[in-house]
Amino acid sequence: MRLIGILSAALLVLTLSLAGTGVANAQDTAAQPAPEEAAPGSSGSVPGGVLGNTSDSEFWRKIRQGAQGNVSIPDKKAGVLIQSEGESWRALRNGPLSTYGIWAMLGMVILLALFFALRGRIKIEHGPSGQLIERFNIIERIGHWLTAISFIILALTGLNLLYGRYFLPQVIGKDAFATITEAGKWAHDWVAFAFMAGLVIIFVLWVVHNIPNRHDLIWLAKGGGLFTKGSHPPSRKFNAGQKLIFWITILGGASLSLSGWVLLDPFQYAMFAKTFQFLNVFGFGLPTELTPLQEQQLAQLWHSAISLFMIAVILAHIYIGSIGMEGAFAAMGSGKVDLNWAKEHHNLWVEEVEAAATNEAAKAPAE
Ligand code: HEM
Repeated sequence: MRLIGILSAALLVLTLSLAGTGVANAQDTAAQPAPEEAAPGSSGSVPGGVLGNTSDSEFWRKIRQGAQGNVSIPDKKAGVLIQSEGESWRALRNGPLSTYGIWAMLGMVILLALFFALRGRIKIEHGPSGQLIERFNIIERIGHWLTAISFIILALTGLNLLYGRYFLPQVIGKDAFATITEAGKWAHDWVAFAFMAGLVIIFVLWVVHNIPNRHDLIWLAKGGGLFTKGSHPPSRKFNAGQKLIFWITILGGASLSLSGWVLLDPFQYAMFAKTFQFLNVFGFGLPTELTPLQEQQLAQLWHSAISLFMIAVILAHIYIGSIGMEGAFAAMGSGKVDLNWAKEHHNLWVEEVEAAATNEAAKAPAE
């Protein structure tokens, strides 16, 4: 093994020098005494005299710093013997990224629990009227649940890839963990396409309702009336809080899809170098010479960071769409909500729907 190691190092010395990368200082190497001339054990000589290669601290330092050599195999990345960014990537992924991710999700759960304890379930203030109004048609609900169910599967399988190995093998055993992780990785790769399809559907259906307007500022200034009983700032189909959720889903989802695509089809794209080039126009001073491996590392870090942020946000969305607010779930369940709920939370939308219905009735020919 040791012999093979020394042989490979010797070959690399040769290729680096020939390639003229400036890595191996050819003159320096040539200036070294021939191996047989070097005193055994003297500084710079390789013990054993195998092939007589000479060691050179500058040379090894360059290798340690990730210098690119030449290889004759198709995978040119193999010309880098030591890729130090890999170590930084690993440290970031398993360190701050994982830690802040836990805090973001746990912090959100604690906030929601506190909110529930203080505010309780937000009730329909005037009580259910018994009259229903259609809020989302079947296509809208299919779009929502396609996005939602796929996101939940992606979140669970993704979280397993990031955190599972710290506790699951101890709980369910190594074999079971290996099986579910393998299946989870497969599901993660394929369910991603359902998520992308869901994103396209909800974007097309809802983008017109999510363009910001002046009511959003009032809604935000009043905290959406969420913290005060009896406060119901005016809103059309979606209020400012929902618009935030929509844009986080669409933009975050698009970014997740792009970075996920890079992870599925590795070493083919230079998205970060191009994005950094664009950002540098605004004076960011980001590196634009990135190796294919660095592109992959950045894609992985970005993919995880955005998904952890989105999971934290979506936890709040799931809370308010289910236990947090009386009457909300029906909107995405049956598609119909109680009229009083609609008037309290989306009064301007109710007026629009009623006006449209009156217009339709007026246009319809008399029987
Ligand atoms: C069990 C999980 C979920 C539940 C119970 C749920 C519930 C709901 C409900 C009730 C609405 C309609 C609100 C209204 O009538 O005004 C809604 C809308 C929406 N949902 Fe979900 N949802 C879930 C998961 C998700 C996920 C995972 C995503 C995206 C990744 C998502 C994205 C959206 C978006 C963009 C809207 C429109 C904007 C909004 O109302 O906030 N939902 N959801």
